[in-house]
Amino acid sequence: MPIELLPENASISREGELHIGDISTQSLAAEFGTPLFVYDEEHLRQRCREVVAGFGKGAVYATKAFLCTAMARLAHEEGMRLDVATGGEYHVARVAGVPASDLVFHGNNKSERELRIALADGVGQVVVDSFDELARIESLVETGLEPPDVLLRITPGIEAHTHEFVRTGQDDSKFGFTVSTGAASEAVERARASNSVNLRGVHAHIGSQVFRADSFAAAVDVICDFARGDDFAEVSLGGGLGVAYVAGEEAPRIADWVEVIKQAVERNGFQGMVSVEPGRAITAAAAVTLYTAGTIKHLPGIRTYVAVDGGMSDNPRPVLYGSGYETFLARDVTAERGMPVRLVGKHCETGDVLVSDGWLPEGLEVDDIVVTPVTGAYGHSMGSNYNKVLRPAVVFVRDGTVRQVVRRETYDDLLLTDLGPE
Ligand code: LLP
Repeated sequence: MPIELLPENASISREGELHIGDISTQSLAAEFGTPLFVYDEEHLRQRCREVVAGFGKGAVYATKAFLCTAMARLAHEEGMRLDVATGGEYHVARVAGVPASDLVFHGNNKSERELRIALADGVGQVVVDSFDELARIESLVETGLEPPDVLLRITPGIEAHTHEFVRTGQDDSKFGFTVSTGAASEAVERARASNSVNLRGVHAHIGSQVFRADSFAAAVDVICDFARGDDFAEVSLGGGLGVAYVAGEEAPRIADWVEVIKQAVERNGFQGMVSVEPGRAITAAAAVTLYTAGTIKHLPGIRTYVAVDGGMSDNPRPVLYGSGYETFLARDVTAERGMPVRLVGKHCETGDVLVSDGWLPEGLEVDDIVVTPVTGAYGHSMGSNYNKVLRPAVVFVRDGTVRQVVRRETYDDLLLTDLGPE
């Protein structure tokens, strides 16, 4: 098992068992049940600190990657502002005690209600995505609400993919004001002329799970080109820094990414504030998911299916994006993984796959705790109740102590919004 994929404060006990934050993962599984998201709290904090060290107030955590009140509080305590992309994310951040002034409100289709709440609270920034949204803000300000600070989300016609940076076709996007059609320049003019918004600058997000730091440098060039002459107070580069999910992958460290961006900004002579919005790079590698193996089905000459007690409802990424994960046994991290397996969930669907072509030790037994690392981003946050499977609990571990930050759902939780059969 590639140790570098584990959270920073993972260790292996003398017996070979995975510990995180000095706590045995098998004892966590026994205490809180499985599936269980186990986050290394110090790892989360350290990643936040690295971004804050690079960008100060320009460090913004993208809550879509993983959000609960404990996570919102943690990122804010470490000095980050928070990117919220819906009224729901906004609400959770506010309940966590994050002041509205430290929230950056994203979204391509913010409703009048969402905007009204945010403006009434004094939200830090609205990242305006369309002319319709500008009009919505204008009519809210006419009712007496304070004009918000805004960034305009521009679509610069570039998109970074995992391994490359391309410049064709990406104007075809639901997000933002398109540069090539002139919409972005028109939005700048309109926002400047409007008394209903305070235009601070522009924002662009070039993609997610970007492996090459130089893609961000190229993005800085494009954004600064667009911003040249406008004397903006701020440019935001969005999120997107990638992480390694499986053996052999390599992603830039936060410090390297910071350096590349800073150099590119300097080269472009931009003097204002630079913001970034990482989500995955903060949370992904901080967590592992613990499952219990339930059914092992050997199909001679074909493959072995190992079914666990979760699946696409706690990690839809393999199904949605074909994403790969590693898998290993909590009780013996370094055991040779000699048995090819397909790790599947408990949903009534053939596509319910967690690890399509994984490896586990041949000694695997029913009731073993099976671990998938790097599940801290876009697993819990994109989870569902499909098949009325209960959403897992989430624990934060640190220095030998554990705190449960999200409890496991109960069957009665499944009926909270159900008004009954009559
Ligand atoms: N800012 C904006 C405007 C974004 O749209 C996103 C992600 C981020 C920041 C954070 O990006 P990150 O640093 O986490 O890459 N569900 C997909 C990822 C979707 C990302 C959408 N936007 C996945 O599981 O890979």
